[in-house]
Amino acid sequence: MTTKSPETDLATELERFVKEQSSRFGDVISYVPAKKSMPEKTTPSVKSTTSVPSVELDLLADKLKVHNKEPWFKAKTLEALEAAIHDCQKCSLGATRIKFVFGVGDPHAKVMIIGEAPGADEDASGEPFVGRAGQLLNKMLAAVEFKREEVFIANILKSRPPNNRDPKPEEVAACEPYLWKQISLIQPKLILCLGRIAGTNLLKLNESLGKMRNQDYNFCGIPVVVTYHPAALMRNPDWKHGAWEDLKRLRKMYEELPA
Ligand code: URA
Repeated sequence: MTTKSPETDLATELERFVKEQSSRFGDVISYVPAKKSMPEKTTPSVKSTTSVPSVELDLLADKLKVHNKEPWFKAKTLEALEAAIHDCQKCSLGATRIKFVFGVGDPHAKVMIIGEAPGADEDASGEPFVGRAGQLLNKMLAAVEFKREEVFIANILKSRPPNNRDPKPEEVAACEPYLWKQISLIQPKLILCLGRIAGTNLLKLNESLGKMRNQDYNFCGIPVVVTYHPAALMRNPDWKHGAWEDLKRLRKMYEELPA
């Protein structure tokens, strides 16, 4: 008899959920049929908290201002930004990475997904979330009716930390202005942070993931939802119900965005 690993179970369940659209995200939420569980499409109210007033994007411009002497600062497109930073050697990860992992997706995405740092598969391919965690991320997105191509996916770090260790503060400090610049070019309406490291570093908080989930945060006026990292969900399938709730919250916020 073959024993399935929890991660195989979760991936299989998610796949079935997406394929059949009437199946399940996971056993614990089998009472929620996919179509019925999706947030209703509502007419956005004028006072929606999910709009991004341009004045708040000025906060982002302020954060970037100190980098105004750097060659990438004036980039007007994501392509120009990538061309300016892909050889970065500001931290020691520049010497150990195979590929710089800039990010991928729609340059006008309304939803930006932020993970922690590239792993081995991403380092080899140059694209974020292409390994097993990435496949699960695709299924999580599809479960709430987002295609991978319609969001933009990036990480706190653009280079792989050896052995997938946690990012060091000096690595985050060197790399995060690139992420801020990406955010300022894309101007997403919503951000989804995957895991504690993404959430705490973007939001500059020292909180547990448990505390950050279900909280209304914003990054320079852009609403932020923090949920589990897909790799953590593969290790802890019991958390999938919580992840599903977070993703439904994100989808509801998306439905309520002003047109
Ligand atoms: N984990 C991350 O946080 N990012 C990736 O790109 C891949 C795995």
